Amino acid sequence: MTPHALNGLDWLRPDLLGSTKLVGVMGWPVGHSVSPPMHNAAFRHLGLDWAYVPLPVLPAEMPEAVSGLRALGFVGANATVPHKRMLYDLVDELTPAARAIGAANTLYIRSEGLLGHNTDAAGFSRALREADMPPEGCHALVLGAGGAARAVVYALASSAASVTILNRTPKKAEALAHAMSFEASAYIEAGSLDRETLARLSAHVDLVVNTTPLGMWPHVERSPWPEELLFPREASCYDLVYNPRRTQLLRQAQLAGAAISDGLGMLVHQGAEAFELWTQKRAPVDIMRAACEAVLEP
Ligand code: ATR
Repeated sequence: MTPHALNGLDWLRPDLLGSTKLVGVMGWPVGHSVSPPMHNAAFRHLGLDWAYVPLPVLPAEMPEAVSGLRALGFVGANATVPHKRMLYDLVDELTPAARAIGAANTLYIRSEGLLGHNTDAAGFSRALREADMPPEGCHALVLGAGGAARAVVYALASSAASVTILNRTPKKAEALAHAMSFEASAYIEAGSLDRETLARLSAHVDLVVNTTPLGMWPHVERSPWPEELLFPREASCYDLVYNPRRTQLLRQAQLAGAAISDGLGMLVHQGAEAFELWTQKRAPVDIMRAACEAVLEP
């Protein structure tokens, strides 16, 4: 997304009244977040007197910011990079997903205390199903072992997929595999993200998920999949990147004849999960997707 892409969206801005319920996104930086237009479009569509605002918060000021949201009567907030771990440490209670992933991207402020949740895993699962890539029992390759990979591996392991995590730094993949072996049924292994390993595993894989930033704007020519290695055509490819939507990895997979999906689905569904937690109403997913599409580059 270019810095100009959020211009001209006055129609998404809510009218703020004394009665307006407030939520927002804490990030640093947060100016290019797609979440405000996505949620405000949903509130407007359902006629809800709610508003979602960007909240630029310096990492060192997260404790004050979270107390401030409570004091100001906010219903909740999202936390994005680099605040997800900090939010995890600041809440009174964690959902099982947030606890297992070790990070919270959603705050729900209730009278009995602050609840930290992680909607990335459920958002990813919903996006996979929507893309007709059901994870149950499949063998998935997860490329990368950072924060996004934690949510993806948790979602896949919860669906009884067998998972191989491949990372540039194999030790981080091993640590993630160990941390996520929470279910007796979960089969998770780790390795190095290199050509040899991908070539060896690609014959037996059903789903490849990219959680690395490779291919993200502005380095759109990059891909975690080696150029000279054919992508397995029987596998599906899910790229968490949504900027641009058609990444180099997805082009490689599509060229091989594989089913592909970009990261917009996960973006929308993690937002929908948070929306439903705060409002207790079903999220208008199509409206949220259209709002994202209006602000993202094709
Ligand atoms: P996030 O929290 O958004 O997932 P992150 O924690 O910075 O982001 O993780 C990014 C992941 O992409 C990491 O697994 C990282 O690999 P390392 O653990 O070796 O750092 C991976 N990654 C980032 N840049 C990469 C590159 N140029 N080549 C291969 N992997 C890369």
